[in-house]
Amino acid sequence: MNQLARELNALLEGTVIGRVLSEYGLRSFFPKGIVAQSAEAAAKATRFNATVGMAYSDGQPILVDAASRQIPGFSARESVAYSPTAGNASLRTRWEAEIRRKNPGLADASMSKPVLTSGLTNGLFQLGELFVDPDDRIIMPDMFWGNYRLMLETRRQGRIVTFPFFTDEGSFHVEGFRAACEKHRSAGKLMVLLNFPNNPAGYAPTKNEADAIVAVLHELAEDGLDIVVVFDDAYFGLYYSDDVYQESLFARCANLHERVLACKVDGATKEEYLWGLRLGFITIAARGLTQVHYDAFEKKLAGSIRASVSNGNTLGQTLLLRMLEDPDWQAEKQRIYDDMRTRYRTVMEILSSYDGPLTALPCNAGYFMSFDCGDLDAEAIRVFLLEKGIGTISIQNRYLRVAFASVDVPDLPALYKEVFDAADAIAHEQTQ
Ligand SMILES: Cc1ncc(COP(=O)(O)O)c(C=O)c1O
Repeated sequence: MNQLARELNALLEGTVIGRVLSEYGLRSFFPKGIVAQSAEAAAKATRFNATVGMAYSDGQPILVDAASRQIPGFSARESVAYSPTAGNASLRTRWEAEIRRKNPGLADASMSKPVLTSGLTNGLFQLGELFVDPDDRIIMPDMFWGNYRLMLETRRQGRIVTFPFFTDEGSFHVEGFRAACEKHRSAGKLMVLLNFPNNPAGYAPTKNEADAIVAVLHELAEDGLDIVVVFDDAYFGLYYSDDVYQESLFARCANLHERVLACKVDGATKEEYLWGLRLGFITIAARGLTQVHYDAFEKKLAGSIRASVSNGNTLGQTLLLRMLEDPDWQAEKQRIYDDMRTRYRTVMEILSSYDGPLTALPCNAGYFMSFDCGDLDAEAIRVFLLEKGIGTISIQNRYLRVAFASVDVPDLPALYKEVFDAADAIAHEQTQ
């Protein structure tokens, strides 16, 4: 094992991070290579700086005119130059401030500085790299974003264990969650992955459910279990009902227990409507961790980023930073939220008078809602709709996911009428 990795492991020894790192996580380190030497030169090389692999002219990175004309107002450093491995420092500070502003429950809990990843996907992937070994169990509700399988099972060879998302009464299944964790606690370490607002269920926990989830984590930790709890906050902020818990559960877990390592994966993708800019962040926290521990973890994470995507998109980071500093940004974002909430309310209104074979699952947040198709073949409904020029997603041949965030309010009644008609047609076909 590299000496630098050993030193980081020594710093993390005795902490939850040290106990839950994967084999790769233990080996990971940030080398004193080109990036580190360039950083030293940036401070000291006052005559010639011949370190980094970028072309310079008159002390500035070269920016091709044809590119510059497309992005007036962006200097070469703000657009085409490389960014630091962990992301643009000002953006990271600003994102941290945003996390604290949006989650007052964090109070003065310590946490790491957000590290930039290439979208949330890359953030989740990095956590898989650092914390999941073959056969490790990852607990999550039975409705989840399908890409988790590719990352955590196909790639990391972990094993996803699910529990029913909803009780028969339509609440989050806290007891199912507890039972799944209890059943798989024997390894002494568990990863839990919670995605609220959820894709595909369009659900975020109520305040009471949030309390209950946090209580389960606390109990398990008190009982000696080390837990990496990953919060996929892709759709953060899109809450449509007053009883929904309006913060990230990360805020509740950041200072919960020495054995609970809370990992927040969030980003500009869905929350700031900048899908293709590929801007995600990882922030971690646990009770008792100090800056020394956060720094050591950041070096391991940066090593893993360096080994995979090297660093993030500079133009995108500058654009996000400028957007967050734009005085009109909050009001513009609010207008989009209002529109999303109107779509949600329109869908709820349509569903309130529906009486047919599909069962709409509880929905109070996010971009989506899903139908449980019961005995009906969800894939057949999807294909039937496709023939009519309508795209939806079938999941596990049981659920039909409708992204109401993608459809304008005036079109929603026609869309849902087609979905209901399709279900009736497939029901009719299946009884023949
Ligand atoms: C729950 C969830 N997490 C993460 C992502 C991925 O986000 P990104 O595009 O930033 O990789 C998605 C995208 O659909 C998602 O639904």
